[in-house]
Amino acid sequence: MKILAIDTSCDETAAAVTRGTTVLSNVIWSQAFQHAEFGGVMPSLAQRMHEERIDWVVSKAITKSQIPITKLDAVAVTSGPGLAIALGVGITKAKELAGRLNIPLIPVNHIEGHLLSPMAEPSTKFQVPTSPTSLKLRGAGKQIQNSKSEIKFPALGLVVSGGHTELVLIKKIGEYQILAKTHDDALGEALDKAARMLGLGYPGGAILEKMAKFGDSKSYTLPMPMSQSPDKHSFSYSGLKTALLRLSASEGQVLIGEPPTLNKRQICDLAASFQNRAFQHLIRVISQTITDNNLSNVDLLVGGGVVANIDLRNRLRKMGKELGLKVRFPYSKKLIGDNAAMIGVAAGLKIKEIRNMKYEIGSIDRKATWAVDQDFSRE
Ligand code: KG4
Ligand code: ZN
Repeated sequence: MKILAIDTSCDETAAAVTRGTTVLSNVIWSQAFQHAEFGGVMPSLAQRMHEERIDWVVSKAITKSQIPITKLDAVAVTSGPGLAIALGVGITKAKELAGRLNIPLIPVNHIEGHLLSPMAEPSTKFQVPTSPTSLKLRGAGKQIQNSKSEIKFPALGLVVSGGHTELVLIKKIGEYQILAKTHDDALGEALDKAARMLGLGYPGGAILEKMAKFGDSKSYTLPMPMSQSPDKHSFSYSGLKTALLRLSASEGQVLIGEPPTLNKRQICDLAASFQNRAFQHLIRVISQTITDNNLSNVDLLVGGGVVANIDLRNRLRKMGKELGLKVRFPYSKKLIGDNAAMIGVAAGLKIKEIRNMKYEIGSIDRKATWAVDQDFSRE
């Protein structure tokens, strides 16, 4: 099953071609640079830029995959969650293509894409195969096998992105239960806001990481989020953010979004202290939730833009060792941030289910607030 996948949920225009869980092409055109001067994503600008680039990105993805367009079996598209007017661009293009090629159109949840992104595999087309790859979905409680690993269900999934921070129980592909989520900001959003407070620009997570590497995380004391709360299974970043705002103001930072008035040492130390607390809180809630639900000794699939952070990956690996979890990340950086290959992979993994569903192309529409545990195909 060869799938052309499209994602325009935020500020990346993305298209990919996948076969099962194999990624044949994965083309991403980021608009982050254009949004940087506004300090965040401008929805109307995102829509315009998606419209300008979608045809180029789609045709590049098809060319790179070396699959003729007429040989595609389905089109998959992110229908939500995301910015409604941005999602609309990808959905319109996907409907046009599926209609013209007379092939099914599969709506995919963006968070499900991030959750399943560690299951994506590189194409061996141009490599000498070292061992055979056989990848089969055999249903609930069974295994998916490939040359490298076996993923058993139920498994756990963690999504840490700019819009979501969720620990999910993956009962089987397509059946999800949210075990922990954030009360307010997502982790990536909190890192972006912290970077902005320190005058580091947008998008902030990556630059905050760079600064944090040179800083001392013990130089400033920031509060541990939710430490006094009886709710041990939720994330919260708004209090930590306010604490950083106060602290940076007391250190001399003048205005949010303005160039830094702090010196480099102060910025690096504040970045390290903030990132450390934000990650400590994340790990603490995940560990507690996993322990309280007796979920040790399972696979933990981790996806979303914040996974690009090396410190976070190390902390998750360490936690995995302590709790007996097999922690799995996507095989490439291009599968970590927003991309369409993860959408194609998610659609490919659900293909049996989808074949029986017969989505009406006309009925597929954007679902800006579609939660991953809400299955709209059964609504
Ligand atoms: O998954 P993603 O590309 O888009 C959403 O679906 O939101 O995630 C974007 C988020 C942003 O908040 C960005 O700052 C964060 O991922 N991010 C990072 C790093 N690279 C991107 N956060 C921490 N360290 C990084 N190296
Ligand atoms: Zn995303």
